[in-house]
Amino acid sequence: MNTSAGIHDLSIATTEYVLEHTRLAAHIGVDPRKFTHGIGQDAMSIPAEDEDIVTMAATAARPILERHGTDGIRTVLLATETGVDESKAAALYLHRLIGLPDNARVIELKQACYSATAALQFAAALTAGDPEHRTLVIAADIARYDTGSAAEATQGAAAAAMLVTADPAILRIEPVSGLYSAHVMDFWRPTYRRTAVVDGKYSVTAYLDAIEHAWNDYHKRAHRELPDFAAFCYHQPFTKMAYKAHRHLLERNGQTPAPEQIEHAIGATTRYNRLVGNSYTASLYLALTALFDHADDLTGKPIALVSYGSGCVAEFLSATVVPGYRRHLRTRANREALSRRTPITYEHYARLARTALPEDGSEYHTPHQTSGPYRFAGITGHIRCYEPRRANLRSAMDADTSAAAQGARP
Ligand code: HMG
Repeated sequence: MNTSAGIHDLSIATTEYVLEHTRLAAHIGVDPRKFTHGIGQDAMSIPAEDEDIVTMAATAARPILERHGTDGIRTVLLATETGVDESKAAALYLHRLIGLPDNARVIELKQACYSATAALQFAAALTAGDPEHRTLVIAADIARYDTGSAAEATQGAAAAAMLVTADPAILRIEPVSGLYSAHVMDFWRPTYRRTAVVDGKYSVTAYLDAIEHAWNDYHKRAHRELPDFAAFCYHQPFTKMAYKAHRHLLERNGQTPAPEQIEHAIGATTRYNRLVGNSYTASLYLALTALFDHADDLTGKPIALVSYGSGCVAEFLSATVVPGYRRHLRTRANREALSRRTPITYEHYARLARTALPEDGSEYHTPHQTSGPYRFAGITGHIRCYEPRRANLRSAMDADTSAAAQGARP
């Protein structure tokens, strides 16, 4: 197998609004340190009424297409568990919105928070078969739980888009990975529900158990040890989960880690998720983006990607950081995606949480709320309609794009 496929470009997007955990704590009447220290969350992204996974996916993917064009993109994989249709792939709505190529296969993948990792692996395999083949992988999700439930503090929303090519500019995916899957009912969302059903405490145990199995499978095949990795990106439903996971793996491998050792291995990876919350499939790739945007030089170093999706599937992947990767990052745009959000009150958030689309196909016009480049305009004749907003966004997104535009294609 060709070992040089990997991430050539990486871009993230999130929502118009943000709810700070201090406001949630004040509303529920709990000590805010339960959230800031206990689960490691400061804030969570909340979508406006005219935002959904399609608008987030378009916003994340647009800068990649602006930088690299669509030449060679033969596959588009959109990973989500917040689908907008039971049949049609959400990525097809992006087709006209951001100009996807006609001569490409476009599909949607689902397996809770894991599916973007499957998409990445499928993309790498397609490139291994044909080095000219490029795949646009997009992870986009909105984590929604019932208001008043223990899980309410672990909501969030974001998208991460990646261009997967041969000879990538940022990260080479290594061909060996560790796998684990089992039938567990820790978290799921029946088709008739808008919010997930979750056994919170059990889901934490299921996560730890699954990543341990995936690591054991990887270890048998790759003959690498945990200390060989410069950093670990974990799926982060809340950032404290990454700390629990890393401690668990180290302890199961005979180590007694000091807190500084764990902080060194994962601290930088939590910087965006701490402010975005759970973005399901996108969460691991926000952790990767945060690592690149905040860690010291990682050139040539191996890093671990540890993916978990409830239900459950886990995968332990390794990857190597490509020399010169820093020139291709979008650090300014990524930070702006978070800092541009408008903080909202608990009451505003609760109002948005109660808002539901008509379920009988009647005409619906969505109020104008987002200031992002794309909006979900409403429903007409059972069709979800999306439109570009004439963006006043001459933003860091575009500035970063032009900075790296030269010679971007390997
Ligand atoms: P809870 O019952 O509200 O919280 O639920 P808790 O009472 O267990 O407290 C949480 C932590 O805060 C504890 O720390 C407390 O000690 C601490 P821990 O013992 O865990 O280290 N704490 C405080 N710390 C400082 N000061 C204080 C204070 N008070 C308490 N004053 C739970 C927490 C995560 C279970 C809940 O939010 C939940 O159900 N969330 C959803 C499920 C979830 O995120 N599971 C994660 C693993 S499964 C997964 O990752 C997959 C998923 O992303 C879905 C997918 O795959 O699609 C969810």
